Amino acid sequence: MVRVLVGELPSAIGRTVTVKGWVNTLRLQSKVQFVVVRDHTGAVQVTHRRGGEQDALGELLRGLTVESAVVVTGRVVANPVVKLGGLEIVPERVEVVSAAEPGLPIGPETGAEQRLNWRFLDVRRPERRLVFEVQTTVERAMREVAAEQGCTELHTPKLMGTASESGAEVFEVGYFDRKAYLAQSPQFYKQMAIAGGIDRVFEIGPVFRAEPSFTSRHSTEFTGMDVELAWIDGVEDVMSFEERMLRRVLEQVAERHGEEIRQHWGVEVVVPELPFPRLTMAEAVEKLRGAGWDAEGVREDLDPEGERLLGALVAQETGHEFVFVTGFPASVRPFYHLRSAADPTVTDSFDLLWKGVEITTGAQREHRHGQLVAQAREKGMDARPEGPLGRYLDCFRYGMPPHGGFGLGLARVLMLALGLPSIRDAVFLFRGPNRLEP
Ligand code: 4AD
Ligand code: MG
Repeated sequence: MVRVLVGELPSAIGRTVTVKGWVNTLRLQSKVQFVVVRDHTGAVQVTHRRGGEQDALGELLRGLTVESAVVVTGRVVANPVVKLGGLEIVPERVEVVSAAEPGLPIGPETGAEQRLNWRFLDVRRPERRLVFEVQTTVERAMREVAAEQGCTELHTPKLMGTASESGAEVFEVGYFDRKAYLAQSPQFYKQMAIAGGIDRVFEIGPVFRAEPSFTSRHSTEFTGMDVELAWIDGVEDVMSFEERMLRRVLEQVAERHGEEIRQHWGVEVVVPELPFPRLTMAEAVEKLRGAGWDAEGVREDLDPEGERLLGALVAQETGHEFVFVTGFPASVRPFYHLRSAADPTVTDSFDLLWKGVEITTGAQREHRHGQLVAQAREKGMDARPEGPLGRYLDCFRYGMPPHGGFGLGLARVLMLALGLPSIRDAVFLFRGPNRLEP
């Protein structure tokens, strides 16, 4: 028997079909047995009227357990009384292909940690699985825009010989008779691709951060979406690439999943207008101080509280959910960010906040070798050719075009798009300081 998806049943009324899925709920009465069967497209009621001594099917249903994998063959009958789509299946045959043990380890009231332990059962719920359908749309839209914009998709190594970008947040792994490090960002490799004449680079890949953070927005392994563009005229080119990309992403998410997101998570997907609001860090700080943030005036960077408040203030003033914050002080940015021509204490960099959460850091990069070396030294880094940055710095010695790019955290985008309480719910299998299983 050919499988019919539950979502296709309205067009199969009057026919005998086979449905394959999980037992969602059971209501077994002496005269009628109701089994709701769920697949990835929906749920259907299977209704069996019990018929005396020889009722083998009724006996089989009596022994069913919730979440068992079943194959049901029967006639699809229109029945306006049935809440699930006004139809039911009158079964002729039910096969239990794999019985679930009685007593599920998780239910609707189960706490987050226990649900993560049983993630495969958690993901069987449609509102949990929705995340991955949205993720598929998000990545497809990003690739579509990247291709239109002339980007080449690359895959850079995640094993590195030196812990170059920052040092502190890096995982060390055994590598034969030496040590290797897990990449904290494809940053240096995408710049190497620019030096290699690949005009525009794009990568979606794993990023590892040894941050002992227990916030709702941090994980130790996440998927990063990284872009690097050569021959830019300024960091504005990078921001305009990103806002156009995100607009396309949210157009497609709204169109394909807007209704389900609203229904399951109560969140409206808003397609953002272009351009996104832009504020310099100095303007942002002034706005925030006016609203009571950081009364002592000591912070050079935004903290999560400042980001949240700034997002709310901008939303209030402009109705926009996004805001680019530009012109971060050099003291809080990596050595490779370009210093502003007007003020060398400031970088040509940006963060993008969505609903008050950072989803991206980007910048124009310093492409002049001498200046880059000076900036690395200023940060106390070893910039000798034989040092850990040597191979990176070589890229700047034989003709490097002006360039810039950004890194975006995919799970943060999903978390915010669906209004999920934590990044744990926005990835298939979360990795954090206390979680390496399952
Ligand atoms: O802000 P980050 O650290 O910037 C970079 O990696 C730069 N190399 C990017 C660049 O091109 N200049 O990371 C980029 C984004 C963040 O804005 C955030 O969305 C996400 O990656 N991110 C994390 N997501 C989950 N867990 C973590 N621990 C994250 N750290 C960063
Ligand atoms: Mg950042």
